[in-house]
Amino acid sequence: MAKQEDKFKKVISHAKEYGYIFQSSEIYDGLSAVYDYAQNGVELKKNIRDYWWKAMVQMHENIVGIDAAILMHPTTWKASGHVDAFNDPLIDNKDSKKRYRADVLVEDFREKIVQKINKDVDKAKKRFGDDFNEEEFRSTNGNVIRRQKQIDEITVELTRVQEENDLEGFKQLILDLKINCPVSGSNNWTDVKQFNLMFGTQLGASAESSMKVYLRPETAQGIFVNFLNVQKTGRMKIPFGIAQTGKAFRNEIVARQFIFRMREFEQMEMQFFIKPGTQQDWFKHWKETRLKWHLSLGMGQDNYRFHDHDKLAHYADAATDIEFNFPFGFKELEGIHSRTDFDLKQHQEFSGKKLQYFDHEENASYTPYVLETSIGLDRMFLAVFSNALQEEELENNTTRTVLKLPAVLAPFKAAVLPLVKKDGLPEVARKILEDLKWDFNVFYDEKDAVGKRYRRQDAAGTPFCITVDHDTLEDNTVTIRHRDTMEQQRVKIEDLRGIIKKEVDVRTWLMKMKA
Ligand code: GAP
Repeated sequence: MAKQEDKFKKVISHAKEYGYIFQSSEIYDGLSAVYDYAQNGVELKKNIRDYWWKAMVQMHENIVGIDAAILMHPTTWKASGHVDAFNDPLIDNKDSKKRYRADVLVEDFREKIVQKINKDVDKAKKRFGDDFNEEEFRSTNGNVIRRQKQIDEITVELTRVQEENDLEGFKQLILDLKINCPVSGSNNWTDVKQFNLMFGTQLGASAESSMKVYLRPETAQGIFVNFLNVQKTGRMKIPFGIAQTGKAFRNEIVARQFIFRMREFEQMEMQFFIKPGTQQDWFKHWKETRLKWHLSLGMGQDNYRFHDHDKLAHYADAATDIEFNFPFGFKELEGIHSRTDFDLKQHQEFSGKKLQYFDHEENASYTPYVLETSIGLDRMFLAVFSNALQEEELENNTTRTVLKLPAVLAPFKAAVLPLVKKDGLPEVARKILEDLKWDFNVFYDEKDAVGKRYRRQDAAGTPFCITVDHDTLEDNTVTIRHRDTMEQQRVKIEDLRGIIKKEVDVRTWLMKMKA
């Protein structure tokens, strides 16, 4: 645990030191759970967004993108259920005065039991070596069986109190499990209350004419209200999708964990409109497709798992999370939801406008069902960044900090470095930079010894360093150094573009989805 916390602290400080993420309004002591993307962060974030957009929109003939406004007519949120039901159960500890999400307290408690089981399994694996049968161990070991039973009981009760909105039962569950406040150590809890997460504001200048509106808590509703506009103007035939990326806002109760849970964040969502009755097949399809997208980035198959929901949102008939192994454990990175026809029917009812599709093959009109994929861009950023940050022991007993970002996502693809700041080397380096700029985001650095500059680029995540030395003046060759292996090659200047392109091209990376 201490190791995990240590790693997480390093991620946060590295993100600041290397110009990726700053606390918002830092000079005023910051604003809780709001962050700014800095000069390198904004490039990484853009590259992740582009990688998603390419895979989801431009590679699919039947998926188009939109960019809907953040402010929407307030009835949107009545129809979607957010005004009445977009709540989190909160509980305060009377001694520490700290506020928690009741469901998170219980889930964290349950996760600790899962970790205990995993520890037992790991120990047994080591003890029995090749003969170890994990399935048999899990189904016969007394401790594991007892702990699994406790997990199942907690899950059943947690689902029940949430579904029945039984707030007294929620508090009782926390008391029964003897969950104490991590700060005060006491179980002196208040009652559990529901808290709506939407930020409200006023639209209009005068008090009489102004109207209460909300900052959207998800981008999805901008897609639903435009369903018919897009279908008609794009002459889209079912099945088809509408995608968008953009800001969403939630007044989160527990806003810790850096950019994992923010009050202002960005989503990348796609609503796939389908024929009713086909949702199970599409659910399976999008689960597989989205996992392949993640795996194409090479961040390790073991770092992902699916978590099927026990408690379904009011609009869903199936839902799963793709969880990622963040520095603080496995947590939701992306949601895949079978949303039925709930949203379109609600908007139809509240707006009085027909939101139906005429299916020429069936010669009938119907309200399409919807399969949604929804990923937080900031969470994806955290997954990529934390997975990339590594400390490596080198052969000469030194360590290097290296940010092994997937090259396709790295903010700068190459740094051009003249070996020394004289003898005409900076002029040649600048010429190379000017040429590469047309194709890639490239960086120029001539300060300090070249070894120090390599380390700086390793830590900033730049996949290639190109060094111009005195031989370059003679034979038009340079040294290209690979960030991950530190291997150096002598290559012709005219070949640089091709070498870099091969490694950073979206095609090279997305092709892995087909493997
Ligand atoms: N339209 C469906 C929807 O919004 P969600 O599970 O509430 O579903 C989808 O959110 C994704 O948005 C999550 O999987 C997560 O990656 C991201 N997300 C949600 N709340 C967030 C927050 N407060 N900060 C950062 N990302 C968040």
